[in-house]
Amino acid sequence: MTRLGTPLSPNATRVMLLGSGELGKEVLIALQRLGVETIAVDRYENAPGQQVAHHARTITMSDPAQLRALIEAEKPDLVVPEIEAIATPLLEELEAAGVVRVIPTARAARLTMDREGIRRLAAETLGLPTSPYRFCDSLDELQAAIDGENGGAIGYPCIVKPVMSSSGKGQSKIDGPADVKKAWDYAMAGGRVSHGRVIVEGFIDFDYEITLLTVRARTADGSIQTQFCQPVGHIQVSGDYVESWQPHPMHPAALEKAQDIAHKVTADLGGQGLFGVELFVKGEQVWFSEVSPRPHDTGLVTLATQWQSEFELHARAILGLPVDTTLKSAGASAVIYGGADAVGLVFDGVDEALAVPGTDLRLFGKPESFVKRRMGVALAHADDVETARRNAKEAASRVKPRRVD
Ligand SMILES: Nc1ncnc2c1ncn2[C@@H]1O[C@H](COP(=O)(O)OP(=O)(O)OP(=O)(O)O)[C@@H](O)[C@H]1O
Ligand SMILES: [Mg+2]
Repeated sequence: MTRLGTPLSPNATRVMLLGSGELGKEVLIALQRLGVETIAVDRYENAPGQQVAHHARTITMSDPAQLRALIEAEKPDLVVPEIEAIATPLLEELEAAGVVRVIPTARAARLTMDREGIRRLAAETLGLPTSPYRFCDSLDELQAAIDGENGGAIGYPCIVKPVMSSSGKGQSKIDGPADVKKAWDYAMAGGRVSHGRVIVEGFIDFDYEITLLTVRARTADGSIQTQFCQPVGHIQVSGDYVESWQPHPMHPAALEKAQDIAHKVTADLGGQGLFGVELFVKGEQVWFSEVSPRPHDTGLVTLATQWQSEFELHARAILGLPVDTTLKSAGASAVIYGGADAVGLVFDGVDEALAVPGTDLRLFGKPESFVKRRMGVALAHADDVETARRNAKEAASRVKPRRVD
């Protein structure tokens, strides 16, 4: 039986979010609605989630000493990683010592924080289909991997990514020998930590890619059940999501393979919570790409399409509550970028945007904008995905972020 307390009282159920961006903010709101006491942690002040939580804390989450001090001081019932750049070995230590429960598990947070852990698990341990890949520590090793000097050639075209990066940072496609050095240099500049390791992957010429939102939640008899949302289709530009929609139609055989892959990888990572399983699809063929052990940016669309958004599903699952992944309506999301480097943007045209039928907006409240920083998202529901996509993009385009000098 799950018992929830009263926030700000001695019997409160306390949940700490490590990372309080736009995705964390929605998880925090879902937790708030269940009367959970929330602690929003980020690396800078007034992060989106900090604006809606009971408590806001600002630390360097990749620093084990700072993270330990905070967890020991706050004593949360649950620690919920919302970003990758966290001192995950410390979380494993605290989890093993029984100090705290990490969502979904500390091991899942560690394995998914760099591309090597999760890729080796998926391809080598679980035998899931992935793109051909190799890890390289120098430009020479990269060239050798592409040419196949120590085994099968990755060949051209291929994609190079820093092992520690997200949202497409430092990632580029190599079409031929002339691009290799440029891709290496770009990866070195774009990685999260400068230890210079990259993955090179053979390019998969997929028909489409999806995120399969997969929830591991408790049922009434206490066992963990795996449930799937309808596939979320999306478009990425330079490795960053710009548009998503749900449901994405799939051949039944491909859907079955996708669910089987998602089931296997999430079962191995374990624990309770929602996962975003990224898959490439061509005809009936499906490849595993990567997995987030937490809500996924492309899943923002579920705020408009599901009875329980991916954020509510995550909140419920981590608290041990039952979930419902049923689709409510077809829908779409379209990203709103800052378009300027500035502090304290204003957003014109919100009224015109919301005049588009069936639309809604999230403006994340980020204190500082960059040209390519995601500052908001337009959402739309409609009878069909095509209409929803058109309306979400139209609404997004009517929001005009501006700097005020
Ligand atoms: N091997 C590949 N073949 C073809 N396209 C690829 C390949 N790897 C990545 N991509 C494209 O680049 C996008 C981003 O790649 P990936 O998900 O690995 O990077 P990321 O930085 O983790 O992105 P995010 O954090 O936004 O999920 C993919 O969604 C896909 O569109
Ligand atoms: Mg990705």
